[in-house]
Amino acid sequence: MLGLTLFACAAITNAYSWPSPQLDALESARFDQFGHNSHGIASFIEPCNLFLFGPNSTGRANVADWIRTVYHDMATHNATDGTGGMDASIRFAEEQARTEDAGNGFGHTIATLFTQSSRYISIADVLALGAVIAIENCGGPEIAFRGGRVDAVASNNPGVPEPQQDLESHIASFARQGFSQVEMIGLVACGHTFGGVQHTFFPDIVPELNDPYSTEDVAHFDSTFVTFDNNIATEYICGTTTNPLVVGFNDTTNSDKRIFESDGNVTMLSFANSPGLFASTCADLFARMLNTVPAGVKLTEIIRPLLVKPFNVQLILSGNTLKFSGEVRFWDTTEDPTRTVRLLWEDHVGRIHNGTLGFSGVSTSTAGRYSAAWYSFNTNEQNPFLSIDAAAGIKSIRFTVNGKLEDQGGIGFAVQDGVVFSKTSCTASADADADPGHFDVAVRNGVHPTRVYLEQKSLDSVQRPIIIEIDIAPPVKPPPANAVYSIWRLPLNGSVLNAFLPYTIGAEIDGVKYSTNDEHMVIDFPPCKG
Ligand code: HEM
Ligand SMILES: *[C@@H]1O[C@H](CO)[C@@H](O)[C@H](O)[C@H]1NC(C)=O
Ligand SMILES: *[C@@H]1O[C@H](CO)[C@@H](O)[C@H](O)[C@H]1NC(C)=O
Ligand SMILES: *[C@@H]1O[C@H](CO)[C@@H](O)[C@H](O)[C@H]1NC(C)=O
Ligand SMILES: *[C@@H]1O[C@H](CO)[C@@H](O)[C@H](O)[C@H]1NC(C)=O
Ligand SMILES: *[C@@H]1O[C@H](CO)[C@@H](O)[C@H](O)[C@H]1NC(C)=O
Ligand SMILES: *[C@@H]1O[C@H](CO)[C@@H](O)[C@H](O)[C@H]1NC(C)=O
Repeated sequence: MLGLTLFACAAITNAYSWPSPQLDALESARFDQFGHNSHGIASFIEPCNLFLFGPNSTGRANVADWIRTVYHDMATHNATDGTGGMDASIRFAEEQARTEDAGNGFGHTIATLFTQSSRYISIADVLALGAVIAIENCGGPEIAFRGGRVDAVASNNPGVPEPQQDLESHIASFARQGFSQVEMIGLVACGHTFGGVQHTFFPDIVPELNDPYSTEDVAHFDSTFVTFDNNIATEYICGTTTNPLVVGFNDTTNSDKRIFESDGNVTMLSFANSPGLFASTCADLFARMLNTVPAGVKLTEIIRPLLVKPFNVQLILSGNTLKFSGEVRFWDTTEDPTRTVRLLWEDHVGRIHNGTLGFSGVSTSTAGRYSAAWYSFNTNEQNPFLSIDAAAGIKSIRFTVNGKLEDQGGIGFAVQDGVVFSKTSCTASADADADPGHFDVAVRNGVHPTRVYLEQKSLDSVQRPIIIEIDIAPPVKPPPANAVYSIWRLPLNGSVLNAFLPYTIGAEIDGVKYSTNDEHMVIDFPPCKG
């Protein structure tokens, strides 16, 4: 009885409630991989032999670079003093210039994945996600992914193992990183199921190959170098391996050989005998590698898919109506023309309204193991937005699927209509003296923000994604927009706004920060009317 209760409690604790901007963003990046509203990471490994920095005949692959990058980022960790670990310090040129970080895969990986980082997803989180998505989509097991890594501001201490070092120093190095000898065998085998060693950077290990399918002279660790499988172990045990760190002509650099046989081949034999054991062991070890972070960093819960997830919900004030748009994703379903999905929205006086949603697309995830069906409550100006009476406003939304209520366990999906973009925003008219233009934010009467500001994406001095906030001075006597909203106005003359950059709106209400999803650019505003 007690056991059952504990189990149920744990299951409830693990779920998060929408909205939660950071968890929502991590969840999308992790699960919306292909198809409708997909996130960019997976597109870089479609197919798994895709190499963005040359043709696939090079023998290189993005997936191999990404997995090696996370290992080298993590391997600086010192479990005793808590320094180093997954913190994207590998992005610094000083760290990449070290002999222990020979190769150009780190630069490639950062250039590709950096674009996917954001205020909610650190660079270290995208590196971790890249590895997870690569492994899962290229034959590997599912990996428990957490977010919340914090990007380093400088290089870490050196500490990545190198092939010419002896077994004792490798055991000591992995122990410092937090892994036992048996775990070292596993982690090296799990990593080296992808990729290989390049002649250019390791000329003493790999000769020129004159191979038209490996024009960058990469000697692969196993015969299936863009696929997660236990061939790294079967080929080793059967004596057919071509792994350059096992059968290299110079025994000094045969580090995989020394590591693999360091327990009398017990671990490698078990991997060769069982693809399932290899996969489950690697899933655990990869998760631990990704979760090896500097002391003090608190990772999020494991990111699991929300079964019903509103997406890109936007409200814009236009006259006496709120233009409402967005989509909803239903996890683990496919398209079904007979399905009826309705949106129910509750206004501020407790009335429930509803409308039918149109099917908008299907997405897939985790090598097609999951799919999701999306429904839209109007997405663009061509399909007119759903118009809501501004006075009544909107408090929360719910859905019904073939009549069954989806309301997040009774709490509904809260929608913030307190601070929204106002269509009265305009740019200087031809008659510039008349009106210099303004960015208008509508604040609902009764909502008392302590701050209203525009948010613009930027990078700090060490390339970390940040948000710059541009405060809008509170109006002395707010001009009403209509009966229920007042305008906070940022004049465009003398303001620092860049007309060509998108802005979101932020507000602090009762000590909590909110951001709108919709981005607005000054160049898109109509001219002010004279
Ligand atoms: C004693 C430990 C290790 C040593 C000495 C070692 C050594 C090497 C070397 C010399 C290369 C060739 C790099 C290049 O030519 O660009 C390589 C590639 C690679 N390593 Fe390791 N490694 C070790 C552990 C690991 C671990 C633990 C992982 C991941 C869990 C890993 C993942 C990879 C991957 C994916 C590649 C292929 C990169 C590519 O093809 O672009 N390695 N390793
Ligand atoms: C390289 O990519 C092309 C196009 O995707 C494909 O037809 C070809 O089989 C690939 N070659 C190798 C060696 O993977
Ligand atoms: C790890 O940290 C401990 C405690 O500060 C220190 O004594 C040890 O030398 C460090 N190890 C390495 C390899 O730097
Ligand atoms: C481990 O297996 C390899 C490949 O079969 C073999 O060459 C080697 O001698 C074995 N090592 C030990 C310690 O059993
Ligand atoms: C083998 O590799 C080691 C370490 O890189 C090097 O010092 C040694 O000269 C190499 N031996 C031969 C015969 O190439
Ligand atoms: C939707 O609205 C219509 C008309 O207001 C109402 O008759 C119907 O019961 C509502 N449906 C739901 C599921 O609330
Ligand atoms: C901006 O325009 C307003 C209204 O035309 C004017 O009152 C104000 O002085 C101008 N501010 C600057 C910095 O030019």
